Amino acid sequence: MKLGVGVSALALALASAAGAQPVAHPWDNRALSPDRRAALLVDAMTLDEQISILRPLSATTLLSLGAPLPPTIPAFLRQPKPAGAIGSAAFAPAIPRLGMPALQESDAGLGVANMGIQRPGDEATALPSGLALASTFDLSLARAYGDTIGAEAHAKGFNVQLAGAVNLVRDPRGGRNFEYGGEDPLLAGLIGGETIAGVQDRHVVSTVKHFALNDQETGRMSLDARIDEAALRESDLLAFQIAIARGKPGSVMCAYNKINGAYACEDPFLLRQVLKGEWKYPGWVMSDWGAVHSLKPAIEAGLDQQSPQGADPDHFAGLSKAVESREIPRAEVREMAFRMVRAFYATGAMDDPARPGGEIDRAGHAAIAQHVAEAGMVLLKNDGLFPLASSVRTIAVIGGHADRGVPIGGGSSMVTPYGGVFHEAPPSAGLLALLSPAYGKSSPLTALQALRPAAQILFDDGSDPARAAALAAKADVVLVFAVKSQSEGGDAPDLSLPNGQDKLIAAVAAANPHTGVVLETGDPVTMPWLDQVGAVLEAWYPGQRGGEAIAAVLDGRVAPSGRLPVSFPAEVSQLPRPRVPGFDPAKPGGLLDPPPPPFEVHYPEGADVGYRWFEKTGAKPLFPFGYGLTYTRFSYDRLQVAAGKGVAVSFTLRNTGARAGVEVAQLYVAPPGRTHRMVGWARVALKPGETRTVSIAADPRLLASYDEAAHRWRRVGGLFDVYVGSAAGQSRLQGHARLSAAVLPDS
Ligand code: BGC
Repeated sequence: MKLGVGVSALALALASAAGAQPVAHPWDNRALSPDRRAALLVDAMTLDEQISILRPLSATTLLSLGAPLPPTIPAFLRQPKPAGAIGSAAFAPAIPRLGMPALQESDAGLGVANMGIQRPGDEATALPSGLALASTFDLSLARAYGDTIGAEAHAKGFNVQLAGAVNLVRDPRGGRNFEYGGEDPLLAGLIGGETIAGVQDRHVVSTVKHFALNDQETGRMSLDARIDEAALRESDLLAFQIAIARGKPGSVMCAYNKINGAYACEDPFLLRQVLKGEWKYPGWVMSDWGAVHSLKPAIEAGLDQQSPQGADPDHFAGLSKAVESREIPRAEVREMAFRMVRAFYATGAMDDPARPGGEIDRAGHAAIAQHVAEAGMVLLKNDGLFPLASSVRTIAVIGGHADRGVPIGGGSSMVTPYGGVFHEAPPSAGLLALLSPAYGKSSPLTALQALRPAAQILFDDGSDPARAAALAAKADVVLVFAVKSQSEGGDAPDLSLPNGQDKLIAAVAAANPHTGVVLETGDPVTMPWLDQVGAVLEAWYPGQRGGEAIAAVLDGRVAPSGRLPVSFPAEVSQLPRPRVPGFDPAKPGGLLDPPPPPFEVHYPEGADVGYRWFEKTGAKPLFPFGYGLTYTRFSYDRLQVAAGKGVAVSFTLRNTGARAGVEVAQLYVAPPGRTHRMVGWARVALKPGETRTVSIAADPRLLASYDEAAHRWRRVGGLFDVYVGSAAGQSRLQGHARLSAAVLPDS
């Protein structure tokens, strides 16, 4: 206390001597750099105060359920939330004498999360899934998406948002792929980076997570991901590197899993050497919830914050003693706290503190959610069924709870949308109901009826294929809504639609050839019925206004403009790992299950993730990365390739159809002897008949490869193969570029 008074008096004296506005503390002076302000504040903290922000408390309590809890629930979730906590992932008390605000950390990347237990009844805008956002290939939409999250977090009092999930989709069965940005490092990195920047524009710190290789949920806490260094640097790490450079997140969340034998949160290569060393990352490293396995090795490796107390054996509880005994240098703890406080200054979280009760532009945010959902919908097949003809009188809507809502992914990212939520399990099931598939109340059926008031819309829930087929036979057009709910904590056993929906679609399509399928899935699925149906629209988990967005696309007011950010395999045998490693069909996993015994996951694909694996093996996917139709067509012409310091192309793009539409033209380049990588793209809106000259410059990082022996990124010299395509492997224009060898800077 004495120290605080002394510092304040000094600050006032300094401020008045400089003739400036009086400030309460020297670190309040906005003319100073974030580094200087953070240094002043952290140096005024006692050791205990510094440690208090490095080991926050859990702010989630399951007591709010009011029901008996299963014995597997750990103690930290059985306690009441700490005083002062809003109720979220984690909390550290304020330090009022120094003006340090409380740390209020909330999930996640699809909106301000609340599974219903953190803040019963508190709703927020549920944004479409990460894969829906990535499907837009639209960086300005990603910024608006992040801005929406940041604005709501700030208005609800959260100053750290656990957003920015950029793990690569290496397995299309992954339970959390719906939170991620797809299989391509450039796309995932740029979309993730812009989202992070959007959150931080609102003076809320964002993370980027889960660093790195949390690419499957099965055994996420016990698996050891084995991959060689060059492959790691060119794939998953590259996505993080791009997202960090673009978004400048205040924090990096390290992952649960091991990488080449070391837990991600105590891996000196990952944290100390690459992140903080080569990339010169100035922010703080927080652990995932329960991902800490040691004190000294973790801190030596570069971990700054343990999140939260009690989620693991609480190694950071020994921090104070370890400093006393000089096992951990005092200066190290100061540096850890400094990184965090600096991020608060750098993002504006300190000068514009988040406070509960702020105003939220619900209508504006709902419009953004709808826009992203529409722009991210991917039309996979269309025999002319969509948009629905104006002559359509009777529409049979079948399955997927389309009369009530749209699915939401499960786990820590789950948002309770404005308007509420319903679960497949009844509320009497308590915690299990909360963990069962969830839906936001935005009904596609109701929205379609509003756009087509003259149409007669019939509904069947799809539980009996014969009954649904009988209804389908009576309609002009049939729309089957197929849902695959996925959640953090477990992966899908395979690529099929669950609960007999493949059979349902086949039966309905056999009864009426004018059948269209709307997929609401977190991930790619196989489509054994594809030849039988007239159209397929992938709507992902479409968020707050998903029903309205789907209806607008089906009706034709909006043309779908999404392109796949992940390859859709034809069958699991095409994958590098036909079985999800560690997956046990008898124990498919879930958020509450204890981790299985340790096991290794090998990545024979290395950096050739997704579409690059298909190119390498010659296998033909059901639908490739980058693919998507719209309600018009485009022609490509006159490719010019300029090769100098890098590769840049220009070409003409023409809308040859009768409707306005958006094309996402993609530039792929293969260094000599390697697979093609997407090195850039252009999202171009064209009116009917309009022609535009389009230019795309390759991102230099994507032309280089990591040279493990020399510890450098190098671009080899030689002839690079170049094509412009409407999807991976679907070249529309081809060329070559001769490049000289070059060495790239590290960061
Ligand atoms: C998840 C993180 C999340 C954290 C806090 C963990 O289980 O992996 O993504 O931010 O919980 O809820």
